[in-house]
Amino acid sequence: MNIILLGPPGAGKGTQARHLVETRGMIQLSTGDMLREARSSGTEMGKKVAAIMDAGKLVTDEIVIGLIEEKLTTEKGAGFIFDGFPRTLAQADALSALLTKLGQSLHTVIEMRVDDEALVERITARSTCGGCGEVYNDKTKPIPADGKCTNCGKENDFVRRADDNEESLRTRLMEYYKKTSPLIGYYYAKGDLRPVNGLADIKEVRASIAAILG
Ligand code: AP5
Repeated sequence: MNIILLGPPGAGKGTQARHLVETRGMIQLSTGDMLREARSSGTEMGKKVAAIMDAGKLVTDEIVIGLIEEKLTTEKGAGFIFDGFPRTLAQADALSALLTKLGQSLHTVIEMRVDDEALVERITARSTCGGCGEVYNDKTKPIPADGKCTNCGKENDFVRRADDNEESLRTRLMEYYKKTSPLIGYYYAKGDLRPVNGLADIKEVRASIAAILG
């Protein structure tokens, strides 16, 4: 079962993807995580994407499609969760062609609906465990008082992303509305789109997704 989690920055895609990995053995393919890994490796490509990401702009289709293609052909598990990919119509067409080439298909596209005000609040309060990537939020899921991650149990650094500030977020939202939101109509027309209320609390969103996936 291959699924897409579609939604604006801060909609909760990463949070829900991690739960699906833990409970269903699916593989999370987050192009954001792949790009952050590339930038920290110090490669030429990493240096190129770092400035684009910090500004909140989209990295080129060519780069992200290449990253996804590599993972699709090397990773194995109980289906892929596409988290933050596709983000443009060209990426959506490329994904469809790649899955067909591999004899696979897309099961469903879960659209996580939220409003812009909630996004600003969520993003500016987010941090992640530097060890395992568990996602926290100063308001809704604070870092435990003993400083130990609830997922890996270690006292790691809790990091804030360089693009998690109001200015970058404004650009990320603009990019979302200009280039990614047309995918809602694209997948609706294909009959693949299933909306969930991303404003509900994390457990309720989990339950809505579970009801869709069966
Ligand atoms: P990426 O890493 O994909 O970031 P994003 O799409 O902006 O999404 P986020 O990771 O910010 O949010 P999320 O929806 O995963 O929310 P989360 O679960 O963390 O992309 C970063 C950059 O990389 C892009 O700007 C671009 O430059 C580049 N890039 C990536 N993919 C690309 C592509 N395909 N093409 C081109 N460029 C690409 O939750 C957020 C916060 O809210 C957390 O604190 C969490 O605890 C909290 N929260 C989550 N759910 C709830 C809830 N239900 N109620 C209350 N709080 C909640």
